[in-house]
Amino acid sequence: MWKKIVKFVKYFTTAMEKIRLFDKTFKLFIPNAEIEKAIDEVAAKINKDNEGCTDIPVILCVLNGSMMFTSALMKRLNFTCELVSIKLSSYAGTTTTGKVQELMGFTSDVTGRRVIVVEDIVDTGNTIVTLAEKLKEHKASEVKICTLLFKPEAYTKDVKLDYVGLSIPNAFIVGYGLDYNEVGRNFEDIYVLDKEDHKLKFYVIFGPPGAGKGTHATAMAERYNLHHISTGELLRKEIAAGTELGRQAKALIEDGRLVPDDVVIRMIGQEFKTVKGVNGFLLDGFPRTIEQARVLDDMLAKIGAELTAVVSIMIPDEVVFDRIRYRATIEGRADDASVEIIQHRIDTYHAQTEPEIAFYQEKGKYHEVSGIGTIEEVRERIFRLVDTF
Ligand code: PRP
Repeated sequence: MWKKIVKFVKYFTTAMEKIRLFDKTFKLFIPNAEIEKAIDEVAAKINKDNEGCTDIPVILCVLNGSMMFTSALMKRLNFTCELVSIKLSSYAGTTTTGKVQELMGFTSDVTGRRVIVVEDIVDTGNTIVTLAEKLKEHKASEVKICTLLFKPEAYTKDVKLDYVGLSIPNAFIVGYGLDYNEVGRNFEDIYVLDKEDHKLKFYVIFGPPGAGKGTHATAMAERYNLHHISTGELLRKEIAAGTELGRQAKALIEDGRLVPDDVVIRMIGQEFKTVKGVNGFLLDGFPRTIEQARVLDDMLAKIGAELTAVVSIMIPDEVVFDRIRYRATIEGRADDASVEIIQHRIDTYHAQTEPEIAFYQEKGKYHEVSGIGTIEEVRERIFRLVDTF
């Protein structure tokens, strides 16, 4: 039904296509021009109904959500009216609690007055029912309900809605006064929760040895609730445990060589399958060759997923060298041990791993940040980038 009512006209808009609020992504749903048009129409009806009125009706703003709509509506009203507010709340996160709390009572007396309730949205209808009862208790002479947005599919009450701007489907929306955990009210357009957002994210953290992949991957994993798969770390654990796989890997790693694809791939596949309760996975140390990058694409396609982005931390070779030498003094990793081994790893990176840049650039998945600066500075650059996915 709502499809017939809401006609989405393609206006020229400078609105952002997507916004990120805390852990959720929202995509553009109703551009401001359409909101303004709906408000024009609602205001015209209210003006007509109040033509020649001799009393001073109350425009009742239901805070917080309705503040933008009330402000826009009042600018269009051409009869004498008074603004009164009340603060009610029933939402927590993206769901209604079903209980309407009064956080602030009427800011002025409504006894014997005609009241036009101004809501940003009527959803289940709990709020307007509570409000209608309250207005009756306060002996308002007449109550009319005006809402910018209405969700017919969610509405369970029978209070008549006198003025409706737009009817919309039963989806969680933010912007133009509407919030997600108190943020997002400031956007002049309305955004809807992006379903794509629920898909698992798959990131690769990329860069030359010593770029800080491990450090930044840990921070990224924590901030975005990702499972960090460090192939080097997994292998080092196998080595420490003295498994068959560990013994094979040990010799290769100490030599500065890459561990065979099938070994690494089996380990990663196992992690994808067994780890639950995360927003996605962050691969660190894989893929290291174009061949492995192709294998990863296939692995993800098989589970109906795709790579979200490659986050590349870039530093020049001189810095690579210095950083690895420094790390060797702290962590004592076998693959950081000698100048020859370090040089071999740098050469291997250039010859085998670096070509992945062009591979991922072609797919539009490659995103680079500078790895020069303090850990905090680089981390900030990475977060600013990842916030956009
Ligand atoms: C929102 C909105 C309405 C109410 C509608 O308020 O502003 O008042 O929910 O939902 P309902 O029809 O299911 O009652 P919220 O409780 O989120 O408080 P807010 O206005 O401060 O955002």
